[in-house]
Amino acid sequence: MCGIIGIVGSSPVSSRLVDSLRRLEYRGYDSAGVAVAANGRLERRRAEGKLRNLEALLVEQPLPGTTGIGHTRWATHGAPSVRNAHPQMAGRVAVVHNGIIENFAPLKAELIAEGRRFESDTDTEVIAHLIDRELSGDVDPLTAFQAALGRVTGAYAVAVLIQGEETLVLGARRGSPLVVGEGQGEMFIGSDALALGPFTNRIVYLEEGDSVAIDHRGARIFDRDNVAASRPVRVVSAASALVEKGNYRHFMEKEIHDQPDACQHTLSAYIDPITATVSSPGMDFATVDRLMIVACGTASYAGMIGRYLFESLAGLPTEVEIASEFRYRDPALYPGALCLAISQSGETADTLAALRWCKARGITTAALVNSHESTMAREVDVMFPTHAGPEIGVASTKAFTSQVAALTALAIAAARQRGRIDAAEEARLAALLLEAPRLIADAILDDGWILPVAQEIAKARDVLYLGRGAMFPLALEGALKLKEISYIHAEGYAAGELKHGPIALVDEATPIIVIAPSDALYDKTSSNMSEVIARGGRVVLITDAKGASHAPDGATVVIAPACDPLIAPLVFAVPIQVIAYQVAVLKGADVDQPRNLAKSVTVE
Ligand code: F6R
Repeated sequence: MCGIIGIVGSSPVSSRLVDSLRRLEYRGYDSAGVAVAANGRLERRRAEGKLRNLEALLVEQPLPGTTGIGHTRWATHGAPSVRNAHPQMAGRVAVVHNGIIENFAPLKAELIAEGRRFESDTDTEVIAHLIDRELSGDVDPLTAFQAALGRVTGAYAVAVLIQGEETLVLGARRGSPLVVGEGQGEMFIGSDALALGPFTNRIVYLEEGDSVAIDHRGARIFDRDNVAASRPVRVVSAASALVEKGNYRHFMEKEIHDQPDACQHTLSAYIDPITATVSSPGMDFATVDRLMIVACGTASYAGMIGRYLFESLAGLPTEVEIASEFRYRDPALYPGALCLAISQSGETADTLAALRWCKARGITTAALVNSHESTMAREVDVMFPTHAGPEIGVASTKAFTSQVAALTALAIAAARQRGRIDAAEEARLAALLLEAPRLIADAILDDGWILPVAQEIAKARDVLYLGRGAMFPLALEGALKLKEISYIHAEGYAAGELKHGPIALVDEATPIIVIAPSDALYDKTSSNMSEVIARGGRVVLITDAKGASHAPDGATVVIAPACDPLIAPLVFAVPIQVIAYQVAVLKGADVDQPRNLAKSVTVE
């Protein structure tokens, strides 16, 4: 995750870019840079390390100009260094970028074949070249920008400066956040409202797929089809700027939309897209004989998905236990075991107690946590981070998908370390995993189906969720989400278990939500659906386009993006979150603060 800022100002801009970057340092700080358009030229300054290095450079080599862009970097493509720092430039174009360009390798090859020269290892430089190439076709900057983005796949946000255009900054968001700020005769774009805090509190939250051109007259906004669009201006208080809801009605809705960015940021802690390698910093899984995952609630379902991955990819025997039960059954411990706690807060009392119990018995401990200063993070031998950012809604969404993303990366790393896959397979899996942020964004966008489905579920007293394989933990998670925020009784079952009891519950008043991508298990789950429909049950099938074409008659079908089974838990998490959210909204429930719950459960 990186921070980006762009200013079309009426006074010198470089120190203001730096002020803003200071507020964005939480998003990354391995290098920083700014560029300005002045005197018919583009000029930039970049420095490795913390922002103060850039500040010192700007004292030695000041920049003129009233229009500029800035960036604080969290390295994804290419090591932290000056040449990989942003802004990246090509010809008449300077770009700052947050996110991943998935197809940068073929695009780079295409551009090199045309004689273009690259100076960095970044995927960002490809965007600069693409825009520059379009500009040579004598089109206006906005058209060139939109045409270039049409070539790019991935989840990202960008800000762009064009040589000779001294009162123009272009921006776009596809999966990563970007906001516009309205000042007095000045305009701004940035990664969040906090970044614009020193300049304005009048904020426009861009919607998914939007692009924007800012100049002294204001902002021209275009939707994902490049059609002019208008977005409301909101006044955001300084105090709430970091954790504000933006255009969203609830934090949960915002956090569902944060997921492409959260997932991408988390993956960048484990995957190097240039070398296509996956690492598990601080841990060699070849030394681990057995993995014991301990966690509570949603985090334990992430752990269950992790178990499928660690066992199938890495051949590492893995058990998952609800932390509140773990130590009360006196578990048999293996000397070569690793106890891995999963926790958003890093403070959950039951999980912490299980961790300490293992530690006291000489077992190596690790924690996958979102709060990096938490007690768990401090007490374990190895801390694996998720980078979901602050999660405010009590019902976990982006923390969950970030946990699943990190576990998938760790399982790939473990598979390589344990000799189960070769470098080519590691690269293939890494590339698949890096598609997840974009596909999560697509799943969030494709929500035209939600209202009738949510209206049907909202009428129910009981709901069953079914899934097979890694979709079984998602069924549990779907049921938990629905229960906790809409207060409708729901249960998740392994699809094959239906006939061993729960099928007795099936009647026309009990919707059955079946999560079944078109994978090797689809046909089996389809038989379970038919059993339900034959008994008068109402099935809502969440699948992909191929699965939809084989859906049993009578099922209501929700189509999610097609994806590899490796990342299906990440992509299919979205529809189940959206269902729970919309049902709770329809029922008028307190979505972000459901009754009787707390965000961090620090009692046993
Ligand atoms: C449900 C939810 C909870 C938490 C659980 C563990 O939406 O958020 O089930 O997952 O209380 O919390 P952490 O992850 O902070 O240990």
